[in-house]
Amino acid sequence: MSLTALPRIELHHHLEGAAPPALIRDMARARHVDISGIFGPDGGYFCRDFPQFLDIYEAATSVLQGPGDYARLTAAVLEQAAAQGVVYLETFLSPDFCGGRDLTAWREYLHAIEEAAAAAEAAHGITLRGIVTCIRHFGPDKARQTALCAAETAGPFIVGFGIAGNETAGHPRDFAWAFDMAREAGLGLTAHAGEWGGPQSVRDALSDLRVDRIGHGVRAIEDPALVEHLVETGIVLEICPGSNIALGLYPDWRSHPIERLRKAGVKLTVSTDDPPFFRTSMTREYDRLADAFGWDEDVFAQINRVALDAAFCDADTRAAIA
Ligand code: ADE
Ligand code: ZN
Repeated sequence: MSLTALPRIELHHHLEGAAPPALIRDMARARHVDISGIFGPDGGYFCRDFPQFLDIYEAATSVLQGPGDYARLTAAVLEQAAAQGVVYLETFLSPDFCGGRDLTAWREYLHAIEEAAAAAEAAHGITLRGIVTCIRHFGPDKARQTALCAAETAGPFIVGFGIAGNETAGHPRDFAWAFDMAREAGLGLTAHAGEWGGPQSVRDALSDLRVDRIGHGVRAIEDPALVEHLVETGIVLEICPGSNIALGLYPDWRSHPIERLRKAGVKLTVSTDDPPFFRTSMTREYDRLADAFGWDEDVFAQINRVALDAAFCDADTRAAIA
């Protein structure tokens, strides 16, 4: 089997972060919202660093103004992901952006997203599941409201709870209540950590939030004892190398720690994070990893097996995509 024919499983992906620039531009024009500053000369998103990324992410998201817009977004994103060979995708969804954490509105957004996902599954054979995500720099109070939305809608479609946003804002312990609520609702747990914070940030997410997976986690490489702990506990890292390189965390693919983490025995998966913002796709991620580290079909098959095991979906869904 060639690299391009491998069925791919993607666990770290933000729905708004995958919005095609043309779709966002169309919606902005229709609503008379001026967000022209977020686009570069080639028409794609333009960001230089992480703070600017967070700003343009929120500006792009501001034009998505109702469940119908999210249905359109979901259809466009799933068509593109399926064309990249993705058969199972977990995406981060945020009640902060979908109805302002109001439970009734959140249910309406979810209904629209799920309907679009069911149509995409029938048309393109891709399965979508949602991870409800709070935004760290929005603070613990909003995270608690977000966790309540997550707990109320936990089920076959909403399978997880997580935290994204600015990792240097606040401390994981501030969000423990939200994660406890999500855990009690039976949701799988993941936290962005070890991207902008060092190894201690990963340790804090593990001890204070008791997560099953870490989003990014790459800076664990700076602490051999933490790498050993990850190996022993089987915590899975959702690694997004193209995102890390685009945002300047590492200068190039060969400097990225993914291969050192893999060789050390850490369980890891490969995802795109916010593909058009970082000018990437699953095919580009796989191709660059093959070029930089000589990864072949066996390595990618192993990565996808880890991802399937670590997916938060129920056993029936897992069996159907295996
Ligand atoms: N939200 C979307 N992408 C993100 C990233 N790479 N880190 C933190 N928050 C995000
Ligand atoms: Zn992310």
